[in-house]
Formats: sequence, structure tokens, C-alpha cells
Amino acid sequence: MAKTHSQYVCQQCGRKFAREMGRCPQCGAWNSMVEEVIAPASKGGRASVSRGLGIRSAPQRLVEISGDIDERIPLSMGEFARVLGGGVVPGSVVLIGGDPGIGKSTLLLQVALEMARQITILYVSGEESERQIKMRALRLLRQDGQEGHTEAIPEGLFLVTETNLGVILEHIAEVHPSLVVIDSVQTTYLPELDSSAGSVSQVRESASRLRELAKSSGVAVFLIGHVTKEGAIAGPRILEHIVDTVLYLEGDRFQSYRLLRSVKNRFGATSEVGVFEMRERGLLEVTNPSEAFLAERMVNAPGSAIVVTMEIQGLTSPTSFGNPRRTPNGVDFNRLLLTVAVLTRRVGLHLGEQDVFVNVVGGLSVDEPAADLAVAATIASSLRGLPVRAEAVLIGEVGLSGELRLVAQMPARLCEAAKLGFKTAIVPRRLRRGEVWPENDIQVIEARSLRQALDHALLAEKE
Ligand code: TYD
Ligand code: MG
Repeated sequence: MAKTHSQYVCQQCGRKFAREMGRCPQCGAWNSMVEEVIAPASKGGRASVSRGLGIRSAPQRLVEISGDIDERIPLSMGEFARVLGGGVVPGSVVLIGGDPGIGKSTLLLQVALEMARQITILYVSGEESERQIKMRALRLLRQDGQEGHTEAIPEGLFLVTETNLGVILEHIAEVHPSLVVIDSVQTTYLPELDSSAGSVSQVRESASRLRELAKSSGVAVFLIGHVTKEGAIAGPRILEHIVDTVLYLEGDRFQSYRLLRSVKNRFGATSEVGVFEMRERGLLEVTNPSEAFLAERMVNAPGSAIVVTMEIQGLTSPTSFGNPRRTPNGVDFNRLLLTVAVLTRRVGLHLGEQDVFVNVVGGLSVDEPAADLAVAATIASSLRGLPVRAEAVLIGEVGLSGELRLVAQMPARLCEAAKLGFKTAIVPRRLRRGEVWPENDIQVIEARSLRQALDHALLAEKE
């Protein structure tokens, strides 16, 4: 019998090690390693997927290969199609990541219900029962307060609850769908691997086999992946290089808005954002996000500012115990200290006897310096009792001498801000070399220093 041996895989970054360590030397995560036994390859090996389907590779002349430049399966859900780059590319693998409960299954069932009018779709669920999914489908098809009817479900939609990838591949070969939805990649497993479902090896191997299938047969694959904070379940990040397109569905589970964001796309632009609202009838496209977003905030409330798609709040209050407190929620502590120091020394705000609290709304966090200006503005706004302009985004890094420094990807940020409906952007002077200001409806205000930026960002007292 062939020998088996163990390896230790960090469940955060996926790096493999020969021995177990308390802390991953690659990504720094603690206690993230899980032992996996590598069994000798079973007969047939990994190529068996395509062989099992009777497909073998053969070189072809490129000119003889069929296919247009932009051959896509159209989608009438405009926001979703736009984030994908204009529809689903046959043979592509799309990963849709997001926190549990954020609405990934809802979104994809909606998309499947719609697309199955034209093409055959196989929805594979390892998370819910067939009945639950049927009930959800009926709920999604509800119209004008009336329950959805079974007749409204298109014939082209097939459903199976299965987690064994070998069996799933057989189903795909049988049903011959144009699109497969795998809900979720963390529940599928290959019995020949010795590690449990959800581990890095299983998740990766499942995804690679589905990719092989997609590339060889032309079926498009949507993989749902849960974002996990820690523990023995591998997150979707480890799949980003395996798939063609990575979308993240984000938002606060307890609020209704959702952002669908593309972070990688072989067939379209990245940094596209689609905005949805979660209703009783599933996700609804929001075509004018500015109204939706601004309606939900207290417009012009002191101490609230927006760095592209993240809202930051700041509060200052007089210190009661001598030592002023600095409390960052969702921003880096040291950056907050630096920002407070610059506000004190360069802008002349008296923060020495003030407690400072900063909060990123919705439990999100920012770890990039581009948020400095927004953080500074919320603090200044709260201390002076002046509101930050509600229709403005603030983007910029604050330097030690009070200057506003340029940040990466400014054009992309401005496009996103425009898409979200902001009217003004307060940003550092100049762009990085090679970048040009994008053409959109946003009015760009360039500021040299933090002090100048604050003058533009804070609304003056009412006369
Ligand atoms: P779900 O799609 O199951 O999340 P995920 O697959 O990302 O884990 O969505 C779960 C939440 O969505 C759940 O809290 C209920 C809510 N929801 C609605 O508000 N309206 C709906 O029509 C549906 C189907 C779900
Ligand atoms: Mg789900």
C-alpha cells in the first residue's frame, strides 16, 4: 500500500506546512492550522473528471475554434449583469462571496428563476432542503401581495441537494445545464480527500474540479462561498486565483441595503458595484442609490462623513478622568492617534481634553490610509458642531505635517462614488502618474492640506 503522510494547512491563507505551528508564518494567523492526511491518489487520478465525461484534450487551430468576442448569456437583472461585465460568459467560473445570511442564496435563486426561462440551470444545494428552496422560490415569485404559483417556476430549473462532488458531476453530465449554481462551495466534498468538508483542501479541490469541467464543457459555474472570520472553514479568498470572476455581496445584515462588488473579473471591469435592497420578495435593484442612501442617514448630522461606500462617524466628548480616551471602531488605533495629533498640532483643534470615538457604520472596518480624511472630518465636525456636507465623499491620507497625500486608485474611487450618487469629492491634489480624472458628474475639490479639506467639507454655521 502506498504511504500516506500529513500536512498542516493554514485555514486563513491556505499555505501548507510540514509541521504544525501556533502561528502561521505566512499570514500571521494564530491557531489556524489543521492537519490533513494526504491519501495516495486513487486510480484514475485527478484527470478523471473530464475523462469520466468522455472529454479528452486535443490541440485545435485557434482559427477553427468557435466563439465570438462577447458571447454571453443575457440577464434581465441589469445590476447583476453589469457587475458581471454584461452577462454570464459560458465556461466561466464566478465566485460569489459574502457573510452568512447576507443574501447570496436569495440572489442566485432569483437569477436562476429568471435565466431558466431561456437556458437549463442546475441549482445544487448543500445547505437547505428541496422544500425550503421551493418555498423560497415561491416567495420570490410573489406579486402584488399574492403568493407565487408553481406554474410560474420555469421548466428549465433543476434542483438537487447533494454535497458529494463526484455525484454532483454525474448530475451535471446527466442534466446538461448551461449554468450550475453550487450553494455552497464549503459544503461540497470529495470523498477521496481525507480532510473534512469546508477545509482548505476540499474547498480548493472542489473549485478546481468544477473549473476543469467548466473549461472543458462550456458550462458556466456560480460558486457561493461564505466569508468566515476564523475556525476550520476555509474562506472564499483562497479561491480568488482559481476562478474567473469574484463578486462580494456586502452590507449590514440588519439593514436592507446590499452592495454587489466585483473584485476580480477576467471578462469585465473590476470595481463595478451594484446596489440592491433586501425586501420580502428578495433582492430588488436600486437604480438611484443616492436617494436610498442619503434618505437613511440623518442628512447633515454633525460627525458623519463618507469615504467611498463606508460611512464613518466620530464623536468627541470632554474627558472625565484626566487621560483622554481614543476609541476606534473599525479603524486602526495608530492611525487614529496620528490623525488626532495632526488635528491638534496642524489644524489647531483642542482635542487634548476630549475623548474621541470613531465608528465605521455597519460593523465594517477600513484599514487603509485613504480613510484618514473622513475620520479627521468627523472628529472636527463633532468638536465644532458643524455638519459634514452630506453629498460629499472624502478621500485622502493625512500626513504628519498636515498635508493631504495622494492615495491609490483615485479614478476608480471617484467612479464608484459617482455611481453611488455623490455630487462632490474632496480629495488630495494631483493624481498618481498615469492616472486621469474620470469623466463623470462628480465635482472634484482638490485640497493641499487637511485644514483646506476641512474648510470645504464642513458646512459653516447657519447665519
Ligand atoms: P440567504 O440568501 O439565505 O443568505 P446567504 O445565502 O447569504 O446565507 O438570505 C438570508 C436572509 O435574507 C434571511 O435573513 C432572510 C432574508 N430574506 C428576505 O429578507 N427576503 C426574502 O425574500 C428572502 C428569500 C430572504
Ligand atoms: Mg445560503
